[in-house]
Amino acid sequence: MRPSLTLKILREVFETAAKITSRLRKSRILRDLSCETELNPKRIIMPIFIKEGGRREQSRWPGMDWIPVGELVSFLSPLVDLGIRSFLVFGIPGFKDHEGSSAYDQNGVVQRAVKEIRGSFQSIAIFTDVCLCQYADHGHCGIVEQGSISRKKTLESLSRIAVSHAQAGADVVSPSAMADGQVSYIRQALDDSGFDKVAIMSYSAKYSSLLYAPFRDVASSAPSFGDRAAYQMDVRNRREAIAEALIDVHEGADIVMVKPALTNLDVISDLRERLLSPIAAYQVSGECAMIRAYAESTGVSETALAIETLRSIGRAGAGIIITYFAPQVISFLRSECL
Ligand code: PBG
Ligand code: ZN
Repeated sequence: MRPSLTLKILREVFETAAKITSRLRKSRILRDLSCETELNPKRIIMPIFIKEGGRREQSRWPGMDWIPVGELVSFLSPLVDLGIRSFLVFGIPGFKDHEGSSAYDQNGVVQRAVKEIRGSFQSIAIFTDVCLCQYADHGHCGIVEQGSISRKKTLESLSRIAVSHAQAGADVVSPSAMADGQVSYIRQALDDSGFDKVAIMSYSAKYSSLLYAPFRDVASSAPSFGDRAAYQMDVRNRREAIAEALIDVHEGADIVMVKPALTNLDVISDLRERLLSPIAAYQVSGECAMIRAYAESTGVSETALAIETLRSIGRAGAGIIITYFAPQVISFLRSECL
C-alpha cells in the first residue's frame, strides 16, 4: 500500500515539474529570462600572439594570427570597440636560446607589446603568459640542465619574467610552466619589486593534452625532446586538480585556471564548489580547431557551436573564460540583446 502511494506522489511531482519546465521553454524571451547561467562579455579574455618584427601573418587556426608590435594598436582598436576588455598576451620572440633569455628582456616582444597597449588604451586588463617554452630552443617550460628541468633555476627565471611583465604594465601575470612553487616564488618576487598590486592567474590544473597542438604550431614551442607529461597533469586524475588549485591559492594565486576546458568540466565544477577564488577556464587551441572542423564538415554555425560549448563551460562553474573565438562570440552576444 505505502510504496504505491509514494510512487503516485512521485509521479505527480514529475508530471508537474515537466509541465512547468516546458512552459518556460516555449519562447526565446522566457528561455532567456529563466536561464540559470549567462555568458558575460566582460568575463571573456582573448589570447593574442605578438611577433617580433615583420608583418601580420594569418594563421590557419582560429584567432591565432601573428601580430607585429607595430600593428598592435590598429589590430586591437576594433576589438576594444567591440567590447573585449581583457587580453592574454603571448610572445613569438625573434630568437631562442638555451635559457630562454628573450622572455625577460626588457625590450622583449611581450614587454614592448604590453607598454604599447598600456599607452594606447585605458580600461583594458592585460594578462601575460609567463613561461619559457616559446623562448627556449629546447621548447620546454623550464630551464633544462643535463636533460632534465632544474626546478630552482626555473623558478628564478619565471620570477624574472613576471617582474619584467609587471614593469611593462601588466595587470595580471599568468604562470603556465607547472613548476612546483611557481606561484609563491612569483608572488614574492613581485612584492619585493614593488608590484604587490599585480595579480596572478595560475594555470593550476593544466593537463597534458594533445589539444595544444595548434598553439605549439603557432608559437613553435613543441619540446625538442621528450614531452610535458613530467610536469603537466595526467588526464586520469581528478582529485589531484583540487590539490593543485588549493596549493596555488595558498601560495597566492588570485585566479585559478583549468585547461583544456571541455575535457575537464568535472574539474571546473569541483573547483567551483571547493574554492572561493574566481575560476577561469581556457578553451584551448585544439578545442577551437575541433569546433571549426566540425562546423566546416557539417555546415552548422561555428559561432553557435562555440557559444554552446562556452555555455557548458560556464555552467560547469567557470566565471572567466579564455577563448580564441572571443570576437565572434562577443559580437553574437551583443546582437542577441538588440
Ligand atoms: C605555454 C602554454 C601553452 C598553452 C598556453 N600556454 C602550451 C603548452 O603547454 O604546450 C596552450 C594554449 C592553447 O593550446 O591554446 N606553456
Ligand atoms: Zn610552457
